[in-house]
Amino acid sequence: MNTTMQTTGRTIRWAKRYDSVVRLMTLGKDKALRQISIERAQIKPGDHVLDVGCGTGDLTLAAKRQAGQRGKVFGIDAAPEMVEVAQSKATKAGIEVDFRLGLIEALPFPDDTFDVVLSSLMMHHLPEDVKAKGLREIYRVLKPGGHLFVVDMQRPVGLVSHILTTVMMHGHLHSGVQDLPVMMTEAGFTNIEISDFWLKMLGTVRGEVK
Ligand SMILES: C[S@@+](CC[C@H](N)C(=O)[O-])C[C@H]1O[C@@H](n2cnc3c(N)ncnc32)[C@H](O)[C@@H]1O
Repeated sequence: MNTTMQTTGRTIRWAKRYDSVVRLMTLGKDKALRQISIERAQIKPGDHVLDVGCGTGDLTLAAKRQAGQRGKVFGIDAAPEMVEVAQSKATKAGIEVDFRLGLIEALPFPDDTFDVVLSSLMMHHLPEDVKAKGLREIYRVLKPGGHLFVVDMQRPVGLVSHILTTVMMHGHLHSGVQDLPVMMTEAGFTNIEISDFWLKMLGTVRGEVK
């Protein structure tokens, strides 16, 4: 499995070093970040869950623990290196998650498949047109009553936020999590809720499918 899929999204090929970089960027709080993310994602036992741009799969594996034996959890990423690392983590831990190559802009799943879709630290890797297409795809694969939960970088606003996001190597962002609600509304989502997260460098957005 070594063919990166064709996308204008920014893929990450250095999968073996990815977890260490996240640890560094979160000042060693990566596990806490995953824990809080999964608590806020509102996954119930038995849920069918998709993690888009799953990377090395830490949040996907945590999602499976939440969804339990009856739950079905999938992780897709455009980079084969990421999928390989995620799959080997699952195998080592004896956790059943289906990791596969896939693009957010062309999700390889039928309509109305998932109760919850997760997107963690990945939306800012996408140009605006792919983000809009990806949100429409997520809306399509969610069941009525299902929801999308996003954790992502905030567009820096003000000096402190500029300094913090620059330390996290994301000071250049022109679009952030606070800009997602408009696009989510256009994609069809309702009851959209946005909140601050992680020193206001990150934020979360949740939206539902009617
Ligand atoms: C910063 S990583 C986030 C990984 C993981 N979700 C996390 O929370 O650590 C962004 C991921 O998005 C993937 N990606 C970029 N463009 C993509 C696309 N069009 N479709 C699916 N995944 C994509 C990258 O390969 C990378 O693994």
